[in-house]
Amino acid sequence: MRNSGEFPAQTNMTKCEHTTCVIFFLLCLLPLGLSQLSANQRVTMFKLSELLKDTTSSVWIVAQEPNPCGWKGVSCTSNNASITHLSLSDFSLTDSGFLPLVCEIGSLEALDLSNNRLSSIPDGFITACGKIGGLKLLSFSRNRLVGALPTFNGFIGLQFLDFSYNSLSGNIGLQLDGLNELRTLNLSSNQFSGHVPTHLGKSRVLEHLLLSKNFFHGGIPKVIFDYHKLVLIDLSNNQLSGSLPARIGDLSKLKILILSSNNLSGEIPTNLSNIRTLSRFAANENNFNGNIPNGISRFLKILDLSYNKLSGLIPSDLMMQPKLQRVDLSYNLLGGSIPANMSSSLVRLRLGSNSLSGVIPSAKLGTLLKLTYLELENNSLSGSIPPELGSCQSLALLNLAMNNLAGRLPLELGSLNRLQVLKLQSNKLTGEIPDQITQIQSLLVLNISENLLSGGIPSSIWRLKSLTNLNLGGNRLLGSIPPSISSFNSLLELQLGRNQLSGHIPRMPNSLQIALNLSHNLFEGPIPNTLSRLSSLEVWDLSNNKFSGEIPIFLTGFRSMTQLLLSNNQLSGVIPKFGHWVAVDTSGNPGLVNTTSHPISTRKSQYKMKSVGSSVAVAVAVGTASLALGITMAILIAVSRSRRHGRVKSN
Ligand SMILES: *[C@@H]1O[C@H](CO)[C@@H](O)[C@H](O)[C@H]1NC(C)=O
Ligand SMILES: *[C@@H]1O[C@H](CO)[C@@H](O)[C@H](O)[C@H]1NC(C)=O
Ligand SMILES: *[C@@H]1O[C@H](CO)[C@@H](O)[C@H](O)[C@H]1NC(C)=O
Ligand SMILES: *[C@@H]1O[C@H](CO)[C@@H](O)[C@H](O)[C@H]1NC(C)=O
Ligand SMILES: *[C@@H]1O[C@H](CO)[C@@H](O)[C@H](O)[C@H]1NC(C)=O
Ligand SMILES: *[C@@H]1O[C@H](CO)[C@@H](O)[C@H](O)[C@H]1NC(C)=O
Ligand SMILES: *[C@@H]1O[C@H](CO)[C@@H](O)[C@H](O)[C@H]1NC(C)=O
Ligand SMILES: *[C@@H]1O[C@H](CO)[C@@H](O)[C@H](O)[C@H]1NC(C)=O
Ligand SMILES: *[C@@H]1O[C@H](CO)[C@@H](O)[C@H](O)[C@H]1NC(C)=O
Repeated sequence: MRNSGEFPAQTNMTKCEHTTCVIFFLLCLLPLGLSQLSANQRVTMFKLSELLKDTTSSVWIVAQEPNPCGWKGVSCTSNNASITHLSLSDFSLTDSGFLPLVCEIGSLEALDLSNNRLSSIPDGFITACGKIGGLKLLSFSRNRLVGALPTFNGFIGLQFLDFSYNSLSGNIGLQLDGLNELRTLNLSSNQFSGHVPTHLGKSRVLEHLLLSKNFFHGGIPKVIFDYHKLVLIDLSNNQLSGSLPARIGDLSKLKILILSSNNLSGEIPTNLSNIRTLSRFAANENNFNGNIPNGISRFLKILDLSYNKLSGLIPSDLMMQPKLQRVDLSYNLLGGSIPANMSSSLVRLRLGSNSLSGVIPSAKLGTLLKLTYLELENNSLSGSIPPELGSCQSLALLNLAMNNLAGRLPLELGSLNRLQVLKLQSNKLTGEIPDQITQIQSLLVLNISENLLSGGIPSSIWRLKSLTNLNLGGNRLLGSIPPSISSFNSLLELQLGRNQLSGHIPRMPNSLQIALNLSHNLFEGPIPNTLSRLSSLEVWDLSNNKFSGEIPIFLTGFRSMTQLLLSNNQLSGVIPKFGHWVAVDTSGNPGLVNTTSHPISTRKSQYKMKSVGSSVAVAVAVGTASLALGITMAILIAVSRSRRHGRVKSN
């Protein structure tokens, strides 16, 4: 009971229930045959279990396991003589009053307090635990700590310090300088400000430095490069400016360098390519400019320079380095053509939104058997789509949209049986849609809109059973929609606008949710009743056709509908009343009467209003009956939302 005054929770202990107290003292005094844990440590642990009994009572069942070495989160030496590791991770701790008590366990090597709700660290903790020479690991990650980083006096053996995911703030000056053994420092996801700390232990043995997601500003300090043992540096998501000093090349053990989401500028230093160990370099979302130096990817597996202002050509050796797996240079100002030499290790290649021109080089495509993501969209690439792409058997995402690609859609794409997303929109592709495209059974998204494709929609289109988004809009497609289209059962979006389609409109898949777009075609006759089944559909575009007859009353009963475009058709009769949540455009239909704006013969219009009103009621009743399906619907809508963002993740 030494130091009892130091612990605020002591009062709780004296108030403990009688029976608990009896057990407590019995256990402390009992000569426990099982355990050789020193009496001091046993007493400390029982005191701790009392202090924390509100949160640990379900995991530290003292009556069942008298030896603290058997408690959850406690590890002892192999002979149970002393406690070495204490993990109170995820114990729902809120009051840090118990912390100094923990430091009485002088044999502690690791103390893990992560995933709790602690908001402060008592001074007594730093003083007491600082004396434990063998303490190597201390983690307070994922708590609610506020205020300044404490100054670590003592802690001569501390190697691993994790304060990530808290709300600590202020500058970091000399607080950590005494930590001579520090190897890992993780301060990410806090609110630290000021300059990147440079006093990180006088003996400079730091290996992992993680400072991401703070408010550090100013330049990358050169002193950092005196920490020769650094293996990982993560400075991402701060407000750093200035350039990346060429002395980075001095860090001969560096494996991972992450500088993403800052305001760094200047050129990428050539000296990076001196680091033989460097496998990942990410400098995306900065203001780096100038040319990409030769040799930069010499030893890299992962290179991300996207969202910068890099210009000039892509170095001819950049993509051919044998270890290279992922390259992202998208959203820069790169010009010239795509280098032909590519490494067969490539898994992901993103060069979108640059100013690249010339043809898609086909020489090495046949060797890219691991290539899973190829994104070259929004450039000025010309020539045709190389048939050799059909050999890239791992492709899941192929995006060549928004270029000047011409010629036909190669049949060879039909053999890409892992392809999920095919985006070729906004090019100058001609010819018919080959039947072979409908062999890609894994396809979820097919977007070949805004091209010059002609002929009909292949009747074998039904074979693309998994399709969620089909966009054939803005082409020169003729003929009618194949009736087999009704057999899609995952299709959420069907875009057929701006073609020359005509004839009968077949039954549409009930799964449609995002949009049905038949606009700017040659459809005529009444709006078919089969559309009344599309109760989940949000956007309806039937505009700019020759639809005639009345606006079907079923259209007013859809609660998912947000937009209905009927403009420029030959519809007639009275416009029924739609819910206020629907944006309706009926302009350009000379035969339509808007009763709201023309309240003419009262009797007739009252009668009409009534009939309209009752059909709305019927439609709503039908809707209510299907409320049982509400949960399913909610899931489907959630799915539709996530699918809209594409299933193939961009990392
Ligand atoms: C250490 O204590 C645990 C928990 O009581 C027990 O299961 C284990 O057998 C003990 N080991 C030794 C060597 O006494
Ligand atoms: C902090 O960084 C270290 C070193 O990379 C890592 O082991 C630890 O898991 C990180 N902490 C959290 C909460 O992710
Ligand atoms: C860059 O690397 C070269 C060797 O490749 C070396 O001579 C030069 O001093 C380095 N520059 C800096 C600033 O470290
Ligand atoms: C980023 O740095 C540039 C100079 O390189 C400066 O003009 C700009 O204001 C900075 N932006 C922010 C958000 O700090
Ligand atoms: C591609 O790389 C090989 C081997 O490094 C080399 O011989 C060839 O000249 C390179 N081709 C081009 C077009 O750079
Ligand atoms: C296309 O690239 C330009 C830069 O070249 C960029 O400004 C624009 O946002 C990109 N468009 C899309 C749709 O990504
Ligand atoms: C398909 O391409 C059009 C441009 O023609 C674009 O607006 C639309 O977002 C694309 N949809 C998908 C799912 O890629
Ligand atoms: C329907 O498709 C046409 C042609 O692609 C497009 O211009 C129009 O914006 C689309 N309608 C809606 C509501 O998105
Ligand atoms: C009918 O006219 C009223 C009043 O001018 C207007 O608010 C409403 O939007 C019109 N309805 C349609 C479907 O155009």
